[in-house]
Amino acid sequence: MSSQPETGLPNPSHVAIIMDGNGRWAKMRGLPRQEGHRRGLEALRRTVRNAADLGLSVLTLYSFSTENWRRPHAEVSFLMGLLKHFVEKDLSELAAANVRVRIIGNREDLPADLRRLVEHAETRTTGNTGLILAIAFNYGARDEILRAARRLAAEVAAGRLDPAAIDEAALSSRLDTHDLPDPELVIRTSGESRISNFLLWQSAYAEFVFTPVLWPDFDRAAFEDALAQYRQRERRFGGLAAVPARNADVA
Ligand code: IPE
Ligand code: IPE
Ligand code: MG
Repeated sequence: MSSQPETGLPNPSHVAIIMDGNGRWAKMRGLPRQEGHRRGLEALRRTVRNAADLGLSVLTLYSFSTENWRRPHAEVSFLMGLLKHFVEKDLSELAAANVRVRIIGNREDLPADLRRLVEHAETRTTGNTGLILAIAFNYGARDEILRAARRLAAEVAAGRLDPAAIDEAALSSRLDTHDLPDPELVIRTSGESRISNFLLWQSAYAEFVFTPVLWPDFDRAAFEDALAQYRQRERRFGGLAAVPARNADVA
């Protein structure tokens, strides 16, 4: 596939993915859920390589939500361990591939060793200029917006900010994603058609692709299929005429 469209929109530069269906993938095979998560990590690695290869600028992956703490303790610790394993094992390769790692979400509640590790991953790759890999871990959009609102309130209380000066840019700049563009495309695997507290602010005008593919099976073909669906969309941003995404702000 060429990364440019025959007709319609160019490929998105930022794709965000809700990686869902690990548990069902395992259940269908009579395997423990953990095996689904292990295979999900392989799909994640594959998807990062494909995103770089397809020329995306940013890939955001929803790995653990603020609501996922409701799962049994054993599964939560397994998922924490899996992130740790991923960073420890893959960081050198990601760094060598010029990937810049960013973690979004609430770090305060993470175990201290994991927190140090993700900070190390960010610092080590901060100068990289290739794909930005944003991992949403202990991420909830409402939590993110609340933390941004608290920051704004604290600045107002300290007399550093005029409430009348709080505009969209002011709030955006206090989100975890302050240095990232909004995703043009959000993909969710596993056939669920909901957003589950992911990027509520940032996806205001994103296009959505819901695919029945379970996350461990998400491959190059499924990725390219989602991009092809995106390219056929007409983005109107509340206006009337179809405008190419890159001209949207001057239309
Ligand atoms: C996605 O797979 C991984 C996480 C949410 C951490 P699930 O674990 O949600 O798999 P299903 O939805 O139960 O199949
Ligand atoms: C969303 O999946 C969170 C992640 C993929 C990390 P869930 O499996 O937690 O979502 P719900 O509970 O089915 O909405
Ligand atoms: Mg799920």
